[in-house]
Amino acid sequence: MASLLALGACNSSEKVVKMESTQPADAHSAARINEISVKHLELDLNVDFEVKQISGTANWTLIRNSAADTVYFDVRNLNIKSVADEQGNALPFKIETEQPFIGAPLKVTVGENVKNVIITYNTTEGAEALQWLSPIQTAGKVHPFLFTQAQAILGRTWIPCQDSPGIRFTYNAKVQVPKELMAVMSATNDTVKNESGIYNFKMEKPIPAYLIALSVGDLVFKPVGPRTGIFAEPSVIDAAVYEFADMEKMLVTAEELYGNYVWDRYDLIVLPPSFPFGGMENPMLTFATPTILAGDRSLTALVAHELAHSWSGNLVTNANWNDFWLNEGFTVYFERRIMEAIYGKPYSEMLEHLGFQDLQETFEELGPTSQETCLKLDLAGKNPDDGLTDIAYEKGYFLLRTLEDAVGRKEFDNFLKTYFNKHAFQTITTEAFLAYLTENLFAGDSAKLDELKVNDWVYKPGLPSNCPSTKSELFTKVDSIVSGFNTSGTVAVSATKSCSTHEWLHFIRTLSPTVNLAQVEKLDALFDFTNSGNAEILGAWFTLTARIGYTKSDQKMEEFLVKVGRRKFLTPIYKALLQRPDGQALAKSIYEKARPNYHSVAVNTMDQLLGVQ
Ligand code: BES
Ligand code: ZN
Repeated sequence: MASLLALGACNSSEKVVKMESTQPADAHSAARINEISVKHLELDLNVDFEVKQISGTANWTLIRNSAADTVYFDVRNLNIKSVADEQGNALPFKIETEQPFIGAPLKVTVGENVKNVIITYNTTEGAEALQWLSPIQTAGKVHPFLFTQAQAILGRTWIPCQDSPGIRFTYNAKVQVPKELMAVMSATNDTVKNESGIYNFKMEKPIPAYLIALSVGDLVFKPVGPRTGIFAEPSVIDAAVYEFADMEKMLVTAEELYGNYVWDRYDLIVLPPSFPFGGMENPMLTFATPTILAGDRSLTALVAHELAHSWSGNLVTNANWNDFWLNEGFTVYFERRIMEAIYGKPYSEMLEHLGFQDLQETFEELGPTSQETCLKLDLAGKNPDDGLTDIAYEKGYFLLRTLEDAVGRKEFDNFLKTYFNKHAFQTITTEAFLAYLTENLFAGDSAKLDELKVNDWVYKPGLPSNCPSTKSELFTKVDSIVSGFNTSGTVAVSATKSCSTHEWLHFIRTLSPTVNLAQVEKLDALFDFTNSGNAEILGAWFTLTARIGYTKSDQKMEEFLVKVGRRKFLTPIYKALLQRPDGQALAKSIYEKARPNYHSVAVNTMDQLLGVQ
């Protein structure tokens, strides 16, 4: 194990003092967990849509881990008005100088008897976690909407907090919103609007700051099962309840696999389409894009994914963003196990195969020797949001598949179940995981680790030679349709009658590298992909049409890019446009229209991609 630990240590340039403690330093937080950390938050906030501002107080209960008399909070672009203790006495504070990917930390001097630090503040225009939507950007078009997105390091832009995944706390919140709107959080939620516009929340389990979340809008709730339900705008709710009908079944299946669900309820809110991610695993209330409302329940693996985070991520949390694969790789593995249990092996094999294709594409993009293709990352001095790639998801997944294949499913499942149980409400580093793995899956025999090249998987770029191969019989059938098309120039529509979303995705991806403009035109005439109601199919199709220059779909592609802010769709389409000699101007003109609709995390990525200052 010594070599593993040494490798992990050289990834961090932080002070020696911290390396010796159980918590590694977090290069993206100013909090000093070994000195004074936090255990509870009382929020009292007012949400003002007129001035697009959240204001109020954050009351933090401290934990003294040393004799230090200073506590550090992460703050970025917040206006700190005053700081007091629990008696209301003003406490001396200082805003430190702004540092990249940290912000301007708030340093508060606390005498030894101070138990709470109460920070009065308001958000500013630089609150990157927040997206304020005008009515036109919502489904109902009448009321405004607000949602937050804190992962990875944006929590500090709307709440002064110790914004490191290694620091956990419980929270209560009181949030005042306009009376015609309703507020929901990653906590216990009311299910109906009230007259006062005041909503109270409780999160009684300790969570890290990246999991605090708030949405405010014209919302209604409908149950799906006894512990599951959906929040959405009124015009979306029925479609969402239909789409996610299997939510309760997913929850029960997840528990059967890896142990009790500890968060009480599992609800989901369908956000407006500018939400920059597919989903976000905010505890008790997953935030989700409406682009998974396909009408045929074909994109619900995303729900299984966010649900799985209730164990991998929210219960057992990556110690810092360098260990992100422990959150996402485990979650993808768990997600596919849920999908296999409910929809069968042929279904999960398709997901796995598509995931493998994504992984190969990521290697192509980053280069096989790029350090960014290691599971263990070194994100110091970088924006974690740029450094978190598909590698954590898919290379992480295939490492776990490798382990499963080596010991058998039964033993691996026992191992995972115990792992979640033993580390519940704790954080974990890659090194601690590897030590736990050696002890508990291989009875302390580190030769097993070498045999499985675990070190290479984790600390070396590229894909180790023992990566399991994927196969999907359903996709093999699709392959023969594609090769038939390549030779005959057409497809018998009857042969594709039973094709599901994933088969179509495989179809489009497989023919993409070689297809020409005439063939694209033919396919669109046969299958009308341009007008598909399925966002995944549109995403794959527009990536192809943008690269080829099939102008007949430009109008629909533009509508898609202006309406949808999900980064996973935007990036490949804009990239494809930019690759085409005459696509630059079109990319820029569409982006000019679309940019005001995007959340900051999408704006940051697209600005870089399109060279916007
Ligand atoms: N936690 C992630 C989203 C995330 C990652 C936000 C990193 C900020 C920084 C979430 O669980 C996720 O992985 N979402 C995926 C969907 C999933 C099915 C792979 C997404 O949004 O595409
Ligand atoms: Zn995830």
